Amino acid sequence: MAAFWNKPVLLCLTLSAAILSMCSVLSTAELQQFEQDPKADHSLSFLVVGDWGRRGGFNQSEVAEQMGITGEKLDVDFVISTGDNFYDDGLKGVDDLAFDESFTKIYTAPSLQKQWYSVLGNHDYRGDVLAQLSPTLRKLDSRWLCLRSFILNAEIVEFFFVDTTPFVDKYFKEPKDDVYDWRGILPRKQYLSNILKDLDLSLKESSAKWKIVVGHHTIRSAGHHGNTDELVLQLLPILEENNVDLYINGHDHCLEHISSPHSRIQFLTSGGGSKAWRGDVDWWNPKEMKFFYDGQGFMSVQITQTRVDIAFYDVFGNVLHMWDTSKQHYADA
Ligand SMILES: *[C@@H]1O[C@H](CO)[C@@H](O)[C@H](O)[C@H]1NC(C)=O
Repeated sequence: MAAFWNKPVLLCLTLSAAILSMCSVLSTAELQQFEQDPKADHSLSFLVVGDWGRRGGFNQSEVAEQMGITGEKLDVDFVISTGDNFYDDGLKGVDDLAFDESFTKIYTAPSLQKQWYSVLGNHDYRGDVLAQLSPTLRKLDSRWLCLRSFILNAEIVEFFFVDTTPFVDKYFKEPKDDVYDWRGILPRKQYLSNILKDLDLSLKESSAKWKIVVGHHTIRSAGHHGNTDELVLQLLPILEENNVDLYINGHDHCLEHISSPHSRIQFLTSGGGSKAWRGDVDWWNPKEMKFFYDGQGFMSVQITQTRVDIAFYDVFGNVLHMWDTSKQHYADA
């Protein structure tokens, strides 16, 4: 048999295989994809918490307890973390006890024993960044999944998780005393342009009814950090162009909802997982500021094929703000 495969035939086969694989690289985005099954009625619900890992301190445990109660009421399918998972400086390594003390031992409610999808925040980049991304942590607690940028396909909704920290100039230009772990990021220009290109392509290819983008940093915010100029300039146009429904972030230690009549995107900050109460609010145009709360809490999202419902909760589980929107069943937005 071997004699049949003479050299020109082999070369030909090798070449066409190479061309085929090049085509598939060019036509599909390179972001890693995960699947999440919706419920039998095609609906989905989840919680969002950000800026949390403080070994239970600053009301982290109280927020976790209320997440457990709300998580049970809504029968949540998973949890999203908007980053700054471990304070002050991320994890020191895969054996850092903070993982157990700030995550596993805090979010103990039965309803929270679901998959967590997490992005990295700027504080996470101040530790061993590869540790948080490591499969070793998934062995310690199978709920944990943290990647830089990735896609979660849940049938009626597609999530696009974006690694926003490397966009922010000041962490590179004026790091002060902070040391950032930029392994895997450099050269930075290339890294950022790849993210934007992959995100744009994936959004264009998406046929999901709802599109949600998640990042650590703000795009629109009235909180301490305010808008992130780099993201307004580079990321926002891609979200606008591709009809993204929600942009969800942390970074500002508050809960807030901003939207404008000129855009379909709802800007939702859920960064109240632990330390909050900074008190410095740069009051926004009241027409666009739907809600701002400078204390601890979290957010829930419920999605069906035709409707999205959002709610924000404080440390006692009180609902502070609700919002919903609908899309026609057959409309292809
Ligand atoms: C914990 O939450 C309560 C109620 O919102 C608040 O009064 C208190 O200041 C919070 N504690 C800390 C340390 O933030």
